[in-house]
Order: sequence, then C-alpha cells, then structure tokens
Amino acid sequence: MNKQLRKAVIAGNWKMNKTPSEAKALLEEIKPLVKDAGCDVVVCVPYVDLCTALEATKGTNIGVGAENCHWAESGAFTGEISAVMLKEMGVQYVITGHSERRTYFGDTDVTVQKRTRAALDAGLTVIVCVGEYLEQREQGVTAELVAMQTKIALGGVSKEELKRIIIAYEPVWAIGTGKTATAEQANEVCAQIRKVIAGLYDQEAADGITIQYGGSMNAKNADELVAQPDVDGGLIGGAALKAPDFAAIVKAASK
Ligand code: PGA
Repeated sequence: MNKQLRKAVIAGNWKMNKTPSEAKALLEEIKPLVKDAGCDVVVCVPYVDLCTALEATKGTNIGVGAENCHWAESGAFTGEISAVMLKEMGVQYVITGHSERRTYFGDTDVTVQKRTRAALDAGLTVIVCVGEYLEQREQGVTAELVAMQTKIALGGVSKEELKRIIIAYEPVWAIGTGKTATAEQANEVCAQIRKVIAGLYDQEAADGITIQYGGSMNAKNADELVAQPDVDGGLIGGAALKAPDFAAIVKAASK
C-alpha cells in the first residue's frame, strides 16, 4: 500500500568491523557500484571510521551514519559519544536500539527512547531497531512486543520529527545467523509496525515512514524481501562488508 510514496533505504551496519584504512578501501569499492542507485544508500560505521567515511563519500550519494549515540549532549560518560558530536562531524544518520546493544550492553526501550530523542534534537536521522527473540516469536507475542518497542522508542516524537525516523524490523533470530525471515514474515511484521504508526500518528505518517527489514539479508534473498509491499529496504550486516553483495542489495531496492 502506497509503497511508491516512500523511498527505500539500504543501510549497511558494519558493526565492529573495519579499521579506518579498511573502511576507506571498502568504500572506494562500493562507490562506483552504487552511484546510480534508485534508493537511498547509507553506511553506518564504527566511530573511528566516521572521519574516513565522511571524507571518502564526499560528493557521492552515500550517507554516513554511526551505530549508536549517548542521550546526553556532553558530560561525565567515559567512552561515550553524543549525537551533537556526530552532527558536528557531518554525520547524518545514527542507529538506535540495535539488538546487539540491547543484548550485550544493557540498552532498554527507555534508553532507546532517550538516544532517539537526543539524535532527533541534534538533527540526525535515526534508524530505530526493533525485533523479537525466537522464544518470543514461538510464544506468539511478536506483534505485541514490536508494537511496544516502537511505541516506547517514539515516545514524544512529533509527526514532523517522524520524517527523520526509519524503523528497522530485525528479528533477533535472523541476525548474523543466515536464517532469514521469509518474505511473508518480514512483510507481516513491517505491516504491523506501519499500523502502529497509523495509530500513534495518522495514515499519512504510516504511508510515509520507511520500514526496513534486517537479518541475514543478502545478494540472493534481497530481491524478494524488498519487493514486499511494506518492506522499504534493509539494514544489512554481514553482506554490507562485501562491496559486490552490498551493491546487489542496493540494486534490488532500486527497482
Ligand atoms: P546481518 O545483520 O545482516 O549480518 O544479519 C543485520 C543487522 O544486525 O543489522
């Protein structure tokens, strides 16, 4: 429904991979392969690679994002990076609520909301991740859980600010496991999230928001996933580290 109203976004999530020199080499490989993309292309990279990525992508169609940010503007938070710092560098995007942050670093729905708030205030576009564990899917609570994660993350976000929100539906059991959700499963949950947006805002907001799928999306399965009516691109982990694979996914989302 109304897929033509939205632009697909393919975002790489490099996670804790690539040193600055490796990042430069990968981006030089990616650039020519995605220059005619018919979708938005973003690379979310480790903090230490941001300078290199911004420099390497200057004047190209590739946007640069970070993988997390703190909710305070500044302060006694040793080892943390604020959204304001990212913005001043020229970073445009940031991921919040990735399941690896939730699982290994104690991120909760509430801290995801705070990070999202700070990122919006700084002027960034936020890729908010939601998704269920396998046990939760088996219990039949995926829709409720993802609705709750979405509602809390977007607490206090205005309809105007929603234009700078991308939601990534990432079933945790599909991340880095090679077990992709079926196109139907991915579409079903993305459609449920869109309904939640319609309820929180209105139909126009729901029709306009980009909802990505993430979890073992690759050059082979991307075509079918991104062709789904409610799937507007993807958040790509492993396959984003190989230029030809990432470019193939961008191509699939450009159709
Ligand atoms: P994956 O990671 O593509 O390697 O499964 C996706 C993600 O974690 O964003």
